[in-house]
Amino acid sequence: MKRTEIGVALLGFGNVGSGTYKALEENFALIEKKVGAKVVIKKILVRNLNAPRRVEAPAELFTTDFEEILRDPKIDIVAELLGGINPATGYIRAALTAGKHVVTANKAALAVHLPDLNKAAAFHKCMLRYEASVCGAIPVIGCISRALTANRITAVKGIVNGTTNYILTRMAAEGASYEDVLKDAQALGFAEADPTGDVEGYDAANKLSVLMATAFGIYRAPDSFERVGITGVTMEDLAAAEAEGKVIKLLACAEEKDGGIEAYVKPVAVEKDSFLGRCGSEFNAVQIDCNMAGPIFLQGKGAGPEPTGSAVLGDIIEIAQAIAAGTEHEQPFTALI
Ligand SMILES: NC(=O)c1ccc[n+]([C@@H]2O[C@H](COP(=O)([O-])OP(=O)(O)OC[C@H]3O[C@@H](n4cnc5c(N)ncnc54)[C@H](OP(=O)(O)O)[C@@H]3O)[C@@H](O)[C@H]2O)c1
Repeated sequence: MKRTEIGVALLGFGNVGSGTYKALEENFALIEKKVGAKVVIKKILVRNLNAPRRVEAPAELFTTDFEEILRDPKIDIVAELLGGINPATGYIRAALTAGKHVVTANKAALAVHLPDLNKAAAFHKCMLRYEASVCGAIPVIGCISRALTANRITAVKGIVNGTTNYILTRMAAEGASYEDVLKDAQALGFAEADPTGDVEGYDAANKLSVLMATAFGIYRAPDSFERVGITGVTMEDLAAAEAEGKVIKLLACAEEKDGGIEAYVKPVAVEKDSFLGRCGSEFNAVQIDCNMAGPIFLQGKGAGPEPTGSAVLGDIIEIAQAIAAGTEHEQPFTALI
């Protein structure tokens, strides 16, 4: 029977949850046309029902009870937008086990659990999508796994963390100290109160782990390759790079080398007038080298509610289209890892 409505639950209504809700609200008619059915938010899981929200949504959608979402047969797709490894990973697994398709933006959970979550999705014949987990709005996962699928990828390198790019860009341009720029970044919402995950390279390492799985079909835990953050980058380092026509960027890189894959996250001096060298401020950029298409360059907003919501919603729409076509349990479920 033809579906007229596809039900979605949002787990989380912070930056990304509210951005996803807003994107769906604004483009509702366009999305209905693309899917051939209405895509409707049925429930929103939060911790605190009384917390102020940046986007308004009807009070009756909110719940603090995840089981209510699991039990609801009208919910086809669960979008996990909580953050953190737990309870997010358990919720993703429970949703797949209940036969619900899952979209997540959670690179921290994926970097640790991608292989077993992929297996769970395949076992339950449900779709698991995570475009928003790497570089926010930039369609790097879809580009590698679909558009470039005819290629052997030889390298993926990029600026995948906007906070550190913002800090390094301003330090280099203004000669400002790391501490001063970090304070500004925190005031502007580009850095969290505890910036460790960003400035020490943990966030970039999580994203590189997900990128490697997508590009090379291998799983590397984020603590299994070199990770250096930007806290040790000095004004002298930046000046020395400048004198050579270079600029320092926090690069996440994985490339074929000596029959294996070499991976690292670390500050690297790159030519100022190169694709990655020109990517400034809080923007992200990724270069994908492949054996048929040649190098592919992607750049855009790597974070923020609506840019990230756009990527989450893109995955939701792809799943909704499969549901509308009745093929959602017949997808190619063999993941690379
Ligand atoms: N922010 C970005 O630009 C961005 C970009 C790409 C990917 N991501 C990823 O997207 C995810 C969400 O990030 P965010 O910035 O939107 O986080 P956030 O603003 O902190 O929002 C988190 C939301 O999840 C809810 N929540 C957290 N733990 C919960 C629990 N145990 N039970 C029920 N609700 C819970 C919170 O509820 P309350 O509001 O009631 O506290 C809040 O609504 C993370 O995995 C992050 O890495 C974020």
